[in-house]
Amino acid sequence: MIFRQLFDSVSGTYTYLIASRRGGEALIIDPVLDKVDRYLQLVRELDVRLVKALDTHLHADHITGLGALRDRTHCVTVMGEQTKADVVSIRVAEGDKVEVEGIALDAIYTPGHTDDSYSFLMQDRVFTGDTLLIRGTGRTDFQNGDARAQYDSIFNKLLKLPSETLMFPAHDYKGDTVSTIGEEKACNPRLQVKSVEEYVDLMSNLKLADPKMMDVAVPANMHVGLSQDDVALRDWTVSAANAMELLGVPDVIFIDLRESSERCKHGVIPNSTHAPYARLLENVHAGGMLHELARATSKRLLFYCAYGERSAMAVRAAHGAGLGSACHIKGGINAWKQAGGPLTR
Ligand SMILES: [Fe+2]
Repeated sequence: MIFRQLFDSVSGTYTYLIASRRGGEALIIDPVLDKVDRYLQLVRELDVRLVKALDTHLHADHITGLGALRDRTHCVTVMGEQTKADVVSIRVAEGDKVEVEGIALDAIYTPGHTDDSYSFLMQDRVFTGDTLLIRGTGRTDFQNGDARAQYDSIFNKLLKLPSETLMFPAHDYKGDTVSTIGEEKACNPRLQVKSVEEYVDLMSNLKLADPKMMDVAVPANMHVGLSQDDVALRDWTVSAANAMELLGVPDVIFIDLRESSERCKHGVIPNSTHAPYARLLENVHAGGMLHELARATSKRLLFYCAYGERSAMAVRAAHGAGLGSACHIKGGINAWKQAGGPLTR
C-alpha cells in the first residue's frame, strides 16, 4: 500500500494520500488548496491516478483543495451527507464505504466538532478529522459544534475501536504525527473525564480565539461545487422535470454514472444503463461502450449521477470525444427525486 501523510504548516493540517499500488487509483483526505500543486506532483511521482478527494468535515481554518483537485484531475469529491458544501459528487452516511481500487474506507459519523464531521476507518487505521486529535479534541464552539455529541462520537464510537488502531488526525500543532486509540484513551487529557457533563464543562471553558482563516475559509468551503456557468454546459443541461418527459422516449438513453452502492441505496431511473464514472473516459472515447452505443444507435446520451457534478464532467468529456448530443440532468438523482421522478431498486 502507498500511504503518505502530508503537512500544511500554515494551518497545521494533515492530508493523506492513499493508493493500493503504483499505477492504481488513489484517494486523498483533507487536501489544502495551497498545496494542490504538491499533491499533483506526488501523484505523478508515485504513478497513481487520483480518483477521489474527501473532506472529513467543512474546515474553518483552511480552504479545501477539493474543488481544485476535481477541476484539475476530474476526480470525485466526497463529504458527509450533513455538509453545507453546495455540491459534492458523493455524500456519505454512517456505514457507507468510500472505495477506490483495492481500498475501502468505512464512514463513521462522528459529529461534535461540526455537525458534518466524519471519521474513516481503513483496516488498521482511522482518520479522525478534527473529532479526535493527538492528546486533544476538536473545538466545539462554532459550526454547529456540540460537545455532548462529540463525547458520544469519541467515547461510543472511536474509543470502541481496537486499542491498537492507528489514529491519524486532520491537524496537529505540536509535531505529533500518529497515535493509537489505546494511547489516546490512556493519555489524552480531554478524555480523562468521568461523565458527559464533565466533558461539556471542559469544552465550554476553553476560551479559544476564532481561527484566523475562518471568515474566508468557511464561505469558500461551502462553494466547492463544480461551476456550471459556462454557456456550452448550460446548453447540454436538462432539468429534472424536462428529463422526466424524456423517460421512455426511444432515442434517449439514460446513463447512470453512480457507483453500485449508490444505486442500491437511492434507487435507479427505470431502464437506465449503468456506466460508472470511474471508467467514463474509456467508455466515451472511440471503441468505448458508450461511444459505440451512441454511434451505432444515433441515440442521445443523457447522463445522471447523485447531484449533477459527475454528470457535468461526463458531458464535457463526451463532447470532447465527439458525442455532440450528450447532455446531463442538472442536480442528478437528488433533483429527480424532488421533481417526483420514478425510481426502481
Ligand atoms: Fe475543523
